[in-house]
Amino acid sequence: MTSTGELLLEHTRDVPDFPQPGVLFKDLTPLFAAPKAFATVVADVADRYRGRVDAVAGVEARGFIIGGPVALALGVPFVPVRKAGKLPGDTVQQTYDLEYGTATIEVHTGAFAAHRRALVLDDVLATGGTAAAACALVERAGGEVAGIEMLLELTFLGGRELLSSYDVHAIAAV
Ligand code: PRP
Ligand code: MG
Repeated sequence: MTSTGELLLEHTRDVPDFPQPGVLFKDLTPLFAAPKAFATVVADVADRYRGRVDAVAGVEARGFIIGGPVALALGVPFVPVRKAGKLPGDTVQQTYDLEYGTATIEVHTGAFAAHRRALVLDDVLATGGTAAAACALVERAGGEVAGIEMLLELTFLGGRELLSSYDVHAIAAV
């Protein structure tokens, strides 16, 4: 584990039985509330992709919090990957499986056509369903996935298997 990974874990709060019994929720609000640690994490991510990506695709909701500063640090556009029904223009949508039921995310049509190499960014890699859907959206909106960056990977859920055709990096794994 890198020193940034250790810093990240020091600023992650475990919340048992949230949002439902049996789930150990990884709360990153302590990181977002600590400007020096947050800046270190943002710089760590940006340094990994500088010169290699043309856009940051941040996944709602926590991928927005991290993705904005990373995009600014890289000097590239931020593209929001939103929950369905929130974007005003024409969109492409992708539905994926949750533990119970399904969810749908979307991006504006052609969002990556003018800046193709996208970094897909989110806070936590669990089953991988969200990230796989975000990658499909990048490709359907004219881009290509240059990398997937997660702050935290829950290895016991095996999300990487769903993302085996992509380059996945996580700052910390538990
Ligand atoms: C959480 C987390 C990731 C996703 C990971 O988001 O922030 O986006 O789940 O799960 P997966 O790898 O099994 O797909 P959630 O959908 O709970 O919504 P939020 O970010 O809007 O709170
Ligand atoms: Mg999320």
